[in-house]
Amino acid sequence: MTAKIITVVNQKGGAGKTTVSMQLAGTIAYKKKKVLVVDTDPQGTATRWAASASDGSMFPAAVIGLSNATAKVHREVKKFIEDYDYIIIDCPPAADSPIPQSALLIADLALVPILPSPLDIWATVGIKHVIDNVLTINEELKARLVLNQCQPKTTLTQETQDVLAEFGIPLTKTQIQQRQVYRQSAVYGQTVHELGAKAKPAIAEIEQLAKEVLKLLK
Ligand SMILES: Nc1ncnc2c1ncn2[C@@H]1O[C@H](COP(=O)(O)OP(=O)(O)OP(=O)(O)O)[C@@H](O)[C@H]1O
Ligand SMILES: [Mg+2]
Repeated sequence: MTAKIITVVNQKGGAGKTTVSMQLAGTIAYKKKKVLVVDTDPQGTATRWAASASDGSMFPAAVIGLSNATAKVHREVKKFIEDYDYIIIDCPPAADSPIPQSALLIADLALVPILPSPLDIWATVGIKHVIDNVLTINEELKARLVLNQCQPKTTLTQETQDVLAEFGIPLTKTQIQQRQVYRQSAVYGQTVHELGAKAKPAIAEIEQLAKEVLKLLK
C-alpha cells in the first residue's frame, strides 16, 4: 500500500486543524483502514489528544509527533508511506514556518479548516499563497476549505460568500457545526463516535466529511 496524504493547514490559530485531523483520522480508521496522524505542531495538541484515552480504550489511529522535523517533514513522513492507507498531517498555525510548506509538498489533499467569518477568511490568505507556491512543484495537490464551527440554520452572509469566492479554493460540501461533543471527545482521547446518542449529528457530519475526502483521494 502507498498512503494517501492529507495535510491540514491554516495559519490562523484555532480554526479547527487538530479537530478535523483527529476526527477524520478516527473516522477513517473505524473503516478498517490504517491511519497515521503526524503531529507537526510544537504545541503537541494531537499527541495529547490521543494520550488522553484511558480505561483501556485507545485512539483508533496511530499518532506520532514530528515537530522537530521542520523543513524535513516530507522526508520523515515518506518513511511511513508504505505502512499506512492514510496519513493526516496536522500543522501548526503558521504560514511562514517551513512545516506547512514541507507537509504540503507530499500531500494529495490540503484541507483548510476555516471559521465562517470574513476576518478569519482574510487571515487565511497567507496559507493560500503557500498552497499556490507548492502547486508549482506538487501539481497534483488538491485543496478544499472546510467551514468549521458553523451555527445551525445560518446561511453565510453575502460578505462571507464574496470573500470565499475570491479565495479560489473550493469548499467541501460538508460543513462542520459548532458542537460541544467535538470538545468533549478530545478530553476523552476519542472521536465523537464514542459519545453515544447525543453525538449522533456530529457523527453523521464527520462521516459525511470522511466520505467526501475519501472520494477526492480516489
Ligand atoms: N466544530 C467545533 N465545535 C465546537 N468546538 C470546536 C469545533 N472545532 C474546534 N473546536 C474547539 O475550538 C478550539 C480550537 O480547535 P483546534 O484545536 O482544533 O484548532 P487548531 O486550528 O488546531 O488550533 P491551533 O492553531 O492552536 O493548532 C478547541 O478548543 C476545539 O475543541
Ligand atoms: Mg492544532
